[in-house]
Amino acid sequence: MALVEMDWPNIGFQYRETPVRFVSEYKDGKWDEGRMSTDPNVVINESAGVIQYAQTCFEGLKAYRTEKGDIVCFRPDLNAARIAESARRLCIPVFPEDRFVEAVKAVIKANADYVPPYGSGATLYVRPVLFATSPVLGVKPAVNYEFRIFVSPVGPYFKGGAKPVSLMVSDFDRAAPHGTGHVKAGLNYAMSLYAIEHAHELGFNENMYLDAATRTYVEETGGANFLFVTKDGTVVTPKSSTILPSITRRSLVYVASEILGMKAEEREIPFTEVKEFAECGLCGTAAVISPVGKITYDGGVIEFPSGMEKMGPVLQKLYDTLTGIQMGRIPGPEGWVVKVVENA
Ligand code: PLP
Ligand code: COI
Repeated sequence: MALVEMDWPNIGFQYRETPVRFVSEYKDGKWDEGRMSTDPNVVINESAGVIQYAQTCFEGLKAYRTEKGDIVCFRPDLNAARIAESARRLCIPVFPEDRFVEAVKAVIKANADYVPPYGSGATLYVRPVLFATSPVLGVKPAVNYEFRIFVSPVGPYFKGGAKPVSLMVSDFDRAAPHGTGHVKAGLNYAMSLYAIEHAHELGFNENMYLDAATRTYVEETGGANFLFVTKDGTVVTPKSSTILPSITRRSLVYVASEILGMKAEEREIPFTEVKEFAECGLCGTAAVISPVGKITYDGGVIEFPSGMEKMGPVLQKLYDTLTGIQMGRIPGPEGWVVKVVENA
């Protein structure tokens, strides 16, 4: 077994099949012991709950090769807790959190040859997914489910790598109806596709969504939370019960306040305040920290002082510290970096 050969700096963010995935089935009221599978395909009934009523949720985390050559992943316990929360909201039976973490580690280990090299700019994206497999016709939860974890090596989420992105303020809402915006539900993402395509057609990388009720406060984008930096260096991030509780954002708020000694605030952010900020970025597993250069809205364009060429200094410091912890260059808080393979 040896590291596969790929043009790592240019692999982009897309699905690439790897040899092994974890599969567990929920039948007769319980999750089975699960198994590793080489089959990337899923065969289900035409009336399966996932197909009819989008009864599905997923997670996203990454595995890294560290400077020392270990393979690690980042805070998988928080993904376990969040998918459990998503599952409860969607009436999907919870996959036990400790088994989730063990299965994540096992899949990464089984695909170790696909974990991109240290310093290549690429990482291994891990995608756990829960979905309803048995048929339904009336609107109700299914009886059988599958839990699956597959992995795919990925590069930067936005084209252009570390270059700042350009956003538009959307007329649409990101999340599905009925208040599921804070869970990672397949339906929420389906509901954002039209808005994302619309933004792309107009030449923007993504949308800034405002709160659906009043269109006053900043929420998030299609796949990441916002981070702002005030002119006096305070890190500010939106507080909202309808955005996804980003693990990266929560980690960065801790890094800012507890490791770097910065001031960090989680609070409601009216859109009218955005023009006052010195820096703006998107944070998430896929986005890491992607700087925002400008935001176009009905009435003007907000350009951030750091511009469309580089990340601002405060976000850069946060980025260097977070990725330093993830890649083993900087010691992180207890439990953040979980070893999967020693000296891979
Ligand atoms: N917001 C949305 C809508 C997302 O899809 C993601 C990605 O998972 C995030 C935020 C960032 O969350 P995390 O940092 O846990 O990856
Ligand atoms: C992630 O960052 O893990 C996401 O889920 C974002 C997007 C790929 C859906």
